[in-house]
Amino acid sequence: MAKYKLQVNNKSYDIEVSEDTPILWVLRDHLNLLGTKYGCGIGQCGACTIHLNGEPVRSCSLPISSVADKSITTIEGISEAGDHPVQLAWKEIDVPQCGYCQAGQIMTATAFLEKNPTPNSDEIRDAMHGNICRCASYNRIEKAVAKAAT
Ligand code: FES
Repeated sequence: MAKYKLQVNNKSYDIEVSEDTPILWVLRDHLNLLGTKYGCGIGQCGACTIHLNGEPVRSCSLPISSVADKSITTIEGISEAGDHPVQLAWKEIDVPQCGYCQAGQIMTATAFLEKNPTPNSDEIRDAMHGNICRCASYNRIEKAVAKAAT
């Protein structure tokens, strides 16, 4: 066990867990931030995507020892009332089907649009291709990212 000071969604937390605990489980089990989802557990599906210093990362594959002193943002932290432009576009396009992967999709999209606020279709598809959706909502995801960019 080791002690860590975490910065999550602009709040500080002191946490004591073993150093190989993936940050996903710290968020879900210790901080009760349940928006970040477990999918594959091996960095392949994107359901667990969060931002680390603004970069999208797979929280299932990152031990807490590698994220201390960095700023973490989860889906709960991107807006106060679900009104981030990406979230609004998601609602307008009615993107989710089962919804399970959507937090990860939105976290990838928000980080992408920060870097590229006016992407074309190819750039959107390229940015989002690592986030898997079992319901195949890919066309709506692409439309929503384009909508959020306008
Ligand atoms: Fe982390 Fe699939 S649960 S990438």
